[in-house]
Amino acid sequence: MYSVAIDGPAGSGKSTIAKLIAHKLNISYIDTGAMYRAIALKTLRQGDLQEQSLQQLLEDTRIDYDRGKIYLDGRDVSQDIRGDEVSAQASKISKNPALREYLVGIQQQIAQKRSVVMEGRDIGTVVLPRAKYKFYLTADVDTRAKRRYEQLLAKGTKTTLEEVKASIEQRDDNDINREHSPLKRAEDAILVDNTHMDLHQTLDYILDKVRGENAL
Ligand code: DC
Repeated sequence: MYSVAIDGPAGSGKSTIAKLIAHKLNISYIDTGAMYRAIALKTLRQGDLQEQSLQQLLEDTRIDYDRGKIYLDGRDVSQDIRGDEVSAQASKISKNPALREYLVGIQQQIAQKRSVVMEGRDIGTVVLPRAKYKFYLTADVDTRAKRRYEQLLAKGTKTTLEEVKASIEQRDDNDINREHSPLKRAEDAILVDNTHMDLHQTLDYILDKVRGENAL
């Protein structure tokens, strides 16, 4: 059993890449951002939330992740968590240490049972510090904004490049500057700046590193 940890900022292509790598290696893909988003969705549905009631909410919440789908209290919310409002709320609440502890526990349990490609912000640093392979994926902010904008356009979402860039910058700021488990490259993670790489080049680069070392 082994783990591949992939961290990086919003729009770096982590999810697409992690999914493809898991498929190629024939192991499970775990999107930890989906877990933060599911809790964010629940807090939005419940209205104004104080720090104390977040603790209570966690006690009354069940999160399951199965075959790429996220379940909140037994219901598949994989589609509902993708909107802008949920993105912003997830970024906001993810600074809460009780929430992080709760989700990190779930993530560690999953990785104890099977080989995984797990992606997020703190996988190589906090969740799976002993992961066999660690990658930190990034690209410059304009490139990330452009990619995200094109994804949203393809989905028919009405937005502008400027709006998307501002929202990515806001999330970067929240993720990098939070006190608990901020987004940062683990010292032993391989840095992959894919500003000038396309999807296939990034994928091949990572797979070469994993396979080269292990001949999987
Ligand atoms: O990867 P994503 O954009 O779906 O993640 C949504 C938010 O959740 C992101 O702004 C930061 C937070 N997050 C986190 O703090 N730690 C993780 N391991 C994954 C996501």
